[in-house]
Amino acid sequence: MSDKIYDVPSAWAERAYVDDARYQAMYAASVEDPNTFWGEHGKRIDWFQPYTKVKNTSFDPGHVSIKWFEDGITNVAYNCIDRHLEARGDQPAIIWEGDSPDESKVITYRELSSEVNKLANILRNRGVEKGDRVTIYLPMIPEAAYAMLACARLGAIHSIVFGGFSPDSLAGRVSDCGSKVIITADEGLRGGRKVPLKANVDAAINQIGDDSVDHVIVVRRTGGKVDMVPGRDVYYDEAAEQVTDECPPAHMSAEDPLFILYTSGSTGKPKGVLHTTGGYLVYASMTHQYIFDYHDGDVYWCTADVGWVTGHSYIVYGPLANGATTLMFEGVPNYPTTSRFWEVIDKHKVTIFYTAPTAIRSLMQGGEEPVKKTSRASLRLLGSVGEPINPEAWEWYHRVVGDERCPIVDTWWQTETGGILITPLPGATRLKPGSATRPFFGVLPEVVDAEGKVLTGACEGNLVIADSWPGQMRTVYGDHERFEQTYFSTYPGKYFTGDGCRRDEDGYYWITGRVDDVINVSGHRMGTAEVESALVAHPKVSEAAVVGFPHDIKGQGIYAYVTLMDGVEPTEELRKELVGWVRREIGPIASPDLIQFAPGLPKTRSGKIMRRILRKIAEDQFESLGDTSTLADPGVVEDLINNRQNKR
Ligand code: PRX
Repeated sequence: MSDKIYDVPSAWAERAYVDDARYQAMYAASVEDPNTFWGEHGKRIDWFQPYTKVKNTSFDPGHVSIKWFEDGITNVAYNCIDRHLEARGDQPAIIWEGDSPDESKVITYRELSSEVNKLANILRNRGVEKGDRVTIYLPMIPEAAYAMLACARLGAIHSIVFGGFSPDSLAGRVSDCGSKVIITADEGLRGGRKVPLKANVDAAINQIGDDSVDHVIVVRRTGGKVDMVPGRDVYYDEAAEQVTDECPPAHMSAEDPLFILYTSGSTGKPKGVLHTTGGYLVYASMTHQYIFDYHDGDVYWCTADVGWVTGHSYIVYGPLANGATTLMFEGVPNYPTTSRFWEVIDKHKVTIFYTAPTAIRSLMQGGEEPVKKTSRASLRLLGSVGEPINPEAWEWYHRVVGDERCPIVDTWWQTETGGILITPLPGATRLKPGSATRPFFGVLPEVVDAEGKVLTGACEGNLVIADSWPGQMRTVYGDHERFEQTYFSTYPGKYFTGDGCRRDEDGYYWITGRVDDVINVSGHRMGTAEVESALVAHPKVSEAAVVGFPHDIKGQGIYAYVTLMDGVEPTEELRKELVGWVRREIGPIASPDLIQFAPGLPKTRSGKIMRRILRKIAEDQFESLGDTSTLADPGVVEDLINNRQNKR
């Protein structure tokens, strides 16, 4: 916690779209009469047929239904490309910076149009139609954006799987949504290391069944040798020679699906979060414009990967719908050196920079020199996303990176929300380091206690949103009941975020982190249940329980308690083997940081694992274990404490 307050710099109050008085007025209008407010702002995108209805939503238990602009007809790719061609044909749409500092290129809106139309035709020639699912498993290369927009152009639903996920994770996602087409690359390149994407696709298809996927389109990124299955696999560049660069945009209803993105929850398999067309694009573009105060001439850089929602809404859809110039970075912050981010900012004259607290914390470790040797004079605004930002990291970001000149927008949102819900606006909001501050237009946050009682004034509890906003997810793909169960049953009639939060006397929100069994590792969401099921799939493991623990750089680390099968020796070697096993089963982001071999786990007499106790032990809070008298065998706790693993 920090009690410092940063005023809006005077230059910002003058140039920004919104000052504080305007924020207050627009916010009040947005929540008092959402139909009029969004009816007006829905016009920020082009419609082939205008909507006559605006909001039609219900959070009622058993009848959750979310529709915005439902009778409007539009197309997302048309809005991100075609409508800009006349005025911005020669403006850079995407600036691509490769993994190596020697590689970069600029793609204008006209070039983007040509590439997207060609890829849409490649897909169409392979039978892809409106409503079909296409899986995208690509590194951060322009083709990832082309692929998203080509699907949108045809009305196909894309499902991007982060390139760091394993063949097994990929297989689960491909089969859940039934994609017949996968777009991938021979290999990815990150920090000078190759990632065998095509080989992973082959392994995934092998696992699901050879006839599950009809077509694999392979971008040549490294030129590395890969196996190509005749009749199924085709190189992108070869397919592109066979098609024209004209493909008419499909006419889509506002509520037709745009994409599925899988995300971890507290139970079971990842859920396919479904976003639709009209409301999503209105919300992504409007938040991008106002929160980053995007003006013509800005160069905007979000360092996320398109495999996460941040990449969807704030690298591709929001910025391109606004006719912006968006930078796409293939590499990592510390390659070839820890000055890379700042050098890229100088190279491309970036004005708006949006990254995650984990990146800031890891770069902070290298001191100020790698930052200060660069100019960063072009920067005017900084952003943060993905996890709570600790005040030390905030202050460093502000002072060292932004030279005390750039406001920081700490943006709170989720895969499910489609766009940012709680955030400062740079010309309107006084900043408190560590607070995401106030709701965006149309967003009604509430803090509730465990029983669902709405708390007022300064308080702490769980964060819910009381009414719908246009960017909200519409359902879990193929499982509407799970959607209602996950988000609308804890506090009936309200959307439950899964986050805890505090509201201070100024009405500012401070997100305290997840209150469910989801952990946030380097800004990436990880369901503890997924790591547990990967661990128990190992033949030597009998039982596993996974919790988060505070980690200096990652925010949270993964702490696994593992009970071995009878007779198996707990060795250092086995510990390493299990870490490698989880990496292979899920992906490197799920690697446990610490594994404690535990002869027994604390359970109630009915056999339920008491995770609260495991969390406290992992957090080193032995004094506040709470009541352990209901445990079937209270003795296990002492053993767990005595053998707690320490950070290496
Ligand atoms: O716990 C919150 C945290 O990240 C979760 C959402 O993760 P995901 O769906 O992967 O989306 C990440 C990018 C939007 C939230 O439930 N979170 C995200 N942004 C913040 C945050 N926690 C605190 N402050 C933030 N700015």
